[in-house]
Parts: sequence; C-alpha cells; structure tokens
Amino acid sequence: MFENHGANKVIDESKQGEATIIEGGTGAKKLYVESYGCQMNFSDSEVVASIMTKEGYTTTRNIDEADVVLINTCSIRENAETRVRNRLTEFKKRKQDQPNLVVGILGCMAERLKQSLLEEEQLVDLVAGPDAYRDLPNLVDEVGSGQRAVNVLLSREETYADISPVRLDQGGVSAFVTITRGCDNMCSFCVVPFTRGRERSRDPETIVQECKDLFAKGYREVTLLGQNVDSYRWNMSSKGVIKDETKATTNFAQLMEMVALVHPDLRVRFSTSHPKDMTDDVLEVMAKYDNICPYIHLPVQSGHTDVLERMNRGYSREWYLDRIAAIRRIIPNCAISTDIITGFCGETDEEHEATVSLMKEVKYDYAYMFKYSERPKTLAERKFKDDVPEDVKGRRLEEIIQIQNQHSKEWNEKEIGQVHQVLIEGPSKRSQEHLCGRNGRNAMVVFPKGDLVKGTYCYVKINDCTSATLIGEVVDGPNA
Ligand code: 5AD
Ligand code: SF4
Repeated sequence: MFENHGANKVIDESKQGEATIIEGGTGAKKLYVESYGCQMNFSDSEVVASIMTKEGYTTTRNIDEADVVLINTCSIRENAETRVRNRLTEFKKRKQDQPNLVVGILGCMAERLKQSLLEEEQLVDLVAGPDAYRDLPNLVDEVGSGQRAVNVLLSREETYADISPVRLDQGGVSAFVTITRGCDNMCSFCVVPFTRGRERSRDPETIVQECKDLFAKGYREVTLLGQNVDSYRWNMSSKGVIKDETKATTNFAQLMEMVALVHPDLRVRFSTSHPKDMTDDVLEVMAKYDNICPYIHLPVQSGHTDVLERMNRGYSREWYLDRIAAIRRIIPNCAISTDIITGFCGETDEEHEATVSLMKEVKYDYAYMFKYSERPKTLAERKFKDDVPEDVKGRRLEEIIQIQNQHSKEWNEKEIGQVHQVLIEGPSKRSQEHLCGRNGRNAMVVFPKGDLVKGTYCYVKINDCTSATLIGEVVDGPNA
C-alpha cells in the first residue's frame, strides 16, 4: 500500500500510486486536491483540476494557502473510508481558524454517503459524486453564499471526453487516460457499481487525441483506464456521438491498436482486464505491437469456482486458467498480476486451498491481496453472512502474501543476466546517483544515472534483484 502524507497527492489503497503534486493555472484563488484510492481517482483529480483552473483557480501543494480543499475518496474497503474520515476531521479543525475555507469531498465516499457527511456529521461543506465534477464551480459558489452544496447525480453519459486533464506531474513521463467510466458487472463484494454508476465508453477519437497531445508534451507512456477495459465498446454514427447499433463499432482491441499507432515510442498499458471478457483478439493486438507492454493485470479474486459464483464473477477456475493459457500462448513473455480477496463469505479451508493452488499454478509476477471487507448495499451484504472470523481472514492473507513474495522473487531472479528496455521515470527514491524506470513487464529497474535523462529509453542489463526491484547497468543495446 502506498502512503505519503504531503500536499496534493494520491494515496493508493490498492495499486501502486505516486504522490503527485497538482500545480497549474494562473488564477488568484488557490485549490488543494488530495486523492485516495485507485488510478481512476487519480485520473479524475486531473479532470477536477482542469475544470477548476478554467474557473480561475491555481492549484497549490501548500494547504495553508488553500481557499478550497477537495478530497477525492475511495470506498472499496472500510479502512479506506476510515482514513479519509480521519483526514476530514483534521480539515474540520483547520476550519475553526479559517472559517472561509471550503472543504469538499469527491469520489466514491461522496457518492455513497451523500448528505450524511454534510448534515449528520457536518464534516464538509460540499459533496460531489464522480459524475458531478462539471458542477464543482457552482457548488463552490453555493458554499460561498452560505449554503451546503451537494451533487451526487450519476450519469449514463458523462465521460468528461472533451476535458483535457491538467496533468498532476507536469514534465511527467507516464499518464493515465480514462476510456470507460462506471461498471455493470455487479461483483457481489464490490461497491463500485453503486458509487460510479453504469458503464459507459468514451469516444475513441478523443482518446487518441489525448494520447497524441501527451506524446507531444513529452509523455512516453499511457495507461488506458477502466473498471473493465475489455468491455470497452463505442458505436459510431456519422455525428460521432450518437450510439447506433447499425454503424461501425470500436472494441477494446481496436482502440488499443489505434493508440499503439499514435507513435512507436509511446508505450501503451491498460488496466483492468476482466477474465470473463478478455478475448484473444486483445492478446493478438498486444503481440503485434512492440510498444504495447507485455503486462496484464487479471484479477482472479478466488481460485475456487464456488466462491467465484458467490462473488458473481461470471467465470470458473477452469475458464480463468484457460485465459492464462491463452496469454502464455499468444504473448509468451507477458507478466501477469492479480487481485485476491481472502475470507469472502463462507470461504472454507478447502476453498482457500484452491486459491493457494491456483497461485502456484499461475505463478503471478505480482499480486494485490486483501481481506474481505463487507460493504453496505452490495449483493454480498444482502445475501451472505460475513462469517469468516477476522483472525482466519488474516491468517489466510498472510499465507498468500508469503507465497506471492516467493513467486515475485523467483521471477526477478530469472531476470539476472537479461537486458531490458527501460523507460526512465526519474531519480531512484533511494539514491540521487541512480535512476529508475520500468521495463515492459512493469518491473521497477534501478541503475547508475550516467548522463541519461527521464522520458528517454535505455537498455539495462540486470545484475541483481530484491523481490520488488531489479538492479542493473546501462548497456548499448538489447543483445549486450
Ligand atoms: N473487500 C476486499 N477487497 C475488495 N476489492 C473490491 N471490493 C472489496 C471488498 N469489499 C478488491 C478486489 C478488486 C480490488 C480493486 O479491490 O480484489 O479487484
Ligand atoms: Fe467491482 Fe467487479 Fe466492477 Fe471490478 S469488475 S469494479 S470488482 S464490480
């Protein structure tokens, strides 16, 4: 889990995240944004920064000079919400000295808790759900005129397609580009369909344009984001936006190819794939283009078909393993990561063992592992008992973490002696004399800096590793 308490930052509960500073705009009013949760929230905060800078705000990393504080939140597990509540309590204290400070909550917690944050708990002045960000300037004005402001309407259309996000890391190398919003899957444990609404895809032309703009600004990597990228589907009409079943459609494989063609030096990644929807044509496009990174995040959640059924995941253990086999067949060097939940409702020892055996069979490069956390209103909350004792959940989690650490280490050890192309992201966190970047398989590589600069590619021969990092030296080419 990533954690960093600073200014305008992203705190990622589930995936690797970077603390990132929002700075932009020329206006007199100052906006401070803090983001928690998934990459989608990170991306949304950039849309929010764009909307607010158009209204005359300048973003700041110094909360002491902020006129407006917005906190973009996550509801995926209870502890994510607890951390945000603690933070909001701190902001409430700050308001005692600074009564004109506007504090707003955005994202999934805003959508889930709605008015209660304003009325019962009186923690914030403003609540805006994930589809209401265009309304933020009005909401801030309402607060200015003495009201408390709420907009939590979910939309079937909103994709913010026309908004050019203010990049949080100006001069950055890697950017997120949202391709779908919402989720229609209704996995029984998951709160996302309730907080982010129905799934909708974004116009591919606007996606390609955004990627071209990013490349022109020096970015060399885009990650196409959606809760389930494989269900991306755009129906085009002559007017471009009216969906029409009789006209040509763009699916995810075609979209990825369009993005790969933006420039051979622009790396393409994507997240998240869904095992029930990931087709071979996506894998074939990946194999065809060198600039599409050989890395797939394919959440399994459990290795037992009965648990998968209770989770409403839409696939069996066998189906999942068939998708893994397809990846290995079509992209032999592909890295694979996953998400796993331990202690889901009714999970028996035998079902847990099935997860362990699946991990051993697949041997993931990386895994994000969680204890089941019951979320209000979800199918699981309504249908099943959260009956696996906390200590059993914890023990099972510990066990799979140990197994995964061993697997990650073995994958890294296999890389010793290999040469990888690395996109340089900047100085290594541990040493100013070293740079870091990722290889196509998404492993972090650290090497002496020489006179290399960020945003360029280099080849690195791997000499050593830890379970999390590859360590190497720069060489002339791929066969050095
Ligand atoms: N409890 C624990 N983990 C969850 N996830 C989603 N909902 C829950 C929950 N209620 C995990 C899933 C998902 C990842 C983003 O978070 O593994 O893939
Ligand atoms: Fe949640 Fe399932 Fe949708 Fe992922 S696919 S956001 S786990 S409902």
